[in-house]
Amino acid sequence: MKIIITENMGEFNKVAADIVSRQIKNKPDSVLGLATGSTPLGLYAMLIDMYKKGELDFSRVKTFNLDEYRGLPKDHPQSYYHFMYENLFNKINIKDENVNLLNGNRDESYRECADYEEKIKAAGGIDLQVLGIGHNGHIGFNEPGTPFDSVTDLIDLSERTIEANSRFFDSPDQVPRQALSMGIKTIMQSRNIVLLISGNSKARIAAKALNGPITQNVPASVLQLHPFVTVVLDKEAAVYL
Ligand code: GLP
Repeated sequence: MKIIITENMGEFNKVAADIVSRQIKNKPDSVLGLATGSTPLGLYAMLIDMYKKGELDFSRVKTFNLDEYRGLPKDHPQSYYHFMYENLFNKINIKDENVNLLNGNRDESYRECADYEEKIKAAGGIDLQVLGIGHNGHIGFNEPGTPFDSVTDLIDLSERTIEANSRFFDSPDQVPRQALSMGIKTIMQSRNIVLLISGNSKARIAAKALNGPITQNVPASVLQLHPFVTVVLDKEAAVYL
């Protein structure tokens, strides 16, 4: 694992944007795995900026998002579909047909999940997966206890996650109780991974995930087994490392 501790969010976002932009410049038809949440927002803003300056071309890039809530309409302000279009896709020259998100509204979720795995394989696998981390160590929506060999599946969200994500909804009862998420094995099959961790509320879980035992109780600890992971932290998230 390569660990990069940055001084502030400006540097944090720049380091992350350098990793993603280098990937796209080296391989213009890169397959990117993308994450939602507040942590990658600065990265996405920098990528948009680079595109606007003519430094980056997304016309051949393909993307696969990690996860999506079950049952929220696509245009719901808290759907990850909406998040990704608002915060990235509408502002760069990516082609709609190259954007892949799990459909949280398909009746047969298991088929949606199996099809997603096939689509990732057909695209040649993920070159670079961007990850955030939940306060309980989840990656994507793979909650503590998820087996390390899990593939894309329908997930029951933990109380901790529902509570953390309720900040985006009017009340906790509006937070969906289920989501579709790439599995841990699916994530581990990515050729390269960049894990972004910021803020003091993530400091304890960062130390557990990066320095603690590799255990299903801390899903992100599995990343210690991946040969090409870069972890970018801000100072606040790195205090217990
Ligand atoms: C959600 C997403 C995760 C994300 C996590 C952390 O639960 N499913 O993919 O990593 O939140 O989000 P934030 O960056 O807002 O702390």
